[in-house]
Amino acid sequence: MVSRRDVLKLGALGLAGAAVPGLLSRPALARALPEPFSRPLAIPPLRTGRLQGGVRTFDLTVRRGRRRFLSGVDTATLGIDADYLGPALRVRRGERVRFAVRNALSTVTTLHWHGVHLPARMDGGPQQVIEPGAVWRPEFEIRQPASLQWYHAHPLHHTGEQVYQGLAGLFYIDDGETPPGLPAEYGVDDIPLVLQDRRFDSDGQFLYLATMRDRMFGVHGDVMLVNGVPWPTLAVPRRRMRLRLLNGSNARTYNLVFSDGREMLQVGTDGGLLARPVARRSIRLAPAERADVIVTFEPGDRVTLRHEPLPRRRRGRRGMGMMGMMGMMSMMQPADEPFVIMQFTAERPEPPQAALPQRLAEVPDWSPRRAARTRRFVLDMAMGPRMMRGDGFTINGRSMDMARIDARVPLGDVEIWEIVNDSPMGHPFHIHDIQFRILDRDGRPPAPWERGLKDTVWVDAGETVRVITRFDDYADPDHPYMFHCHILEHEDGGMMGQFVVV
Ligand code: C2O
Ligand code: CU
Ligand code: CU
Repeated sequence: MVSRRDVLKLGALGLAGAAVPGLLSRPALARALPEPFSRPLAIPPLRTGRLQGGVRTFDLTVRRGRRRFLSGVDTATLGIDADYLGPALRVRRGERVRFAVRNALSTVTTLHWHGVHLPARMDGGPQQVIEPGAVWRPEFEIRQPASLQWYHAHPLHHTGEQVYQGLAGLFYIDDGETPPGLPAEYGVDDIPLVLQDRRFDSDGQFLYLATMRDRMFGVHGDVMLVNGVPWPTLAVPRRRMRLRLLNGSNARTYNLVFSDGREMLQVGTDGGLLARPVARRSIRLAPAERADVIVTFEPGDRVTLRHEPLPRRRRGRRGMGMMGMMGMMSMMQPADEPFVIMQFTAERPEPPQAALPQRLAEVPDWSPRRAARTRRFVLDMAMGPRMMRGDGFTINGRSMDMARIDARVPLGDVEIWEIVNDSPMGHPFHIHDIQFRILDRDGRPPAPWERGLKDTVWVDAGETVRVITRFDDYADPDHPYMFHCHILEHEDGGMMGQFVVV
């Protein structure tokens, strides 16, 4: 059993020694922290909505809440029909869905369907503002394969703050084509795990965006929440478990491993199933990325899922200025230390009924020869006054402007988007509306686990990643979609742009 002390050691999520004003002093934090693995994992309630004239309909209310993450103190939160996070919504490919999203906050919000292919007017980006007290009614058809998508707040400059407080939830798409042998019983052997790191102040409240370092690297926390529960434990009922991992953190990238090094069989990525399973010992998951994995448990198992530090790459494209900046960055960058996330135990798990399928799905692919064009997106960050002002993050030298359309994509075109990271830290680049395939990283073909549909791709410092996709359906010159870094403080700081499909 891991003691509270060990968790603090392991749970020092890279902030040890950091001068963060207001952060709980260690002894006070230790008293307020729950015993590790003492709370059961919460499973977000599953909602299938109701059918109204053939349209699957959901009513959602975005509201304030309170949640006891720490012992003896309630934290002020935000949630969707809940105190923190929202329900898991389940829809089917081919059907129409409709939502009534009521904003019961005193500030504006939006609700974005991350990873979902839909008309831009329904996307819930910063353009679809829901005023306090107002109801937003998006409606669209589900036109994509089975996958785990998610929804989250996306108001201009305030996405990070609202997601941090809890405005996110899961969006399951079914297509009736799950291969036999793949666990599919929600909350039983098909378990969502929303990973979020959080930081609390001395009053036990979320401490969001406190320092310059937070702006630069994004807000990192020292308490690990899974589905909103600090360091939870899960007693698994079956030997073959399917874990749907979502990195719901604002800024932190995880390198996930099991404490005994056991294998994870990755069966899916952001956009759905891979063509075939890929055996892995560690999985890097950047903000907004999903991984669908099968883990096998044996009777008597007691293992933890943990983060192991990743080798850090610091390679810029520019000369001495870059070297100086990189030196400064590496001094400021939070240390990457190992920490625990959650525990799994198995008493007498049931053996699987069917063999694991070797063929999972047909993954759409687009040949680069069919691409109509290549667009370049250069990610960068400015230091000094711009960074202080909070708009130091740029794409192609410009920070986000609602009045500017950065790209016009002709409907039906296959395009290659070349994402060039000219900055000294990695960025998870996300494109709304579509799912893409990764063509190459610095000219090298993607690893087997990156050969699935993706909507978010990690682009390391100094790296160039090319992705390819086709922009189908929903031409609309007046309503843009977004593309941006999914480190939410970078997105809010300007590393975002708009495109229209015409
Ligand atoms: Cu998770 Cu603009 O999205
Ligand atoms: Cu999105
Ligand atoms: Cu970024």
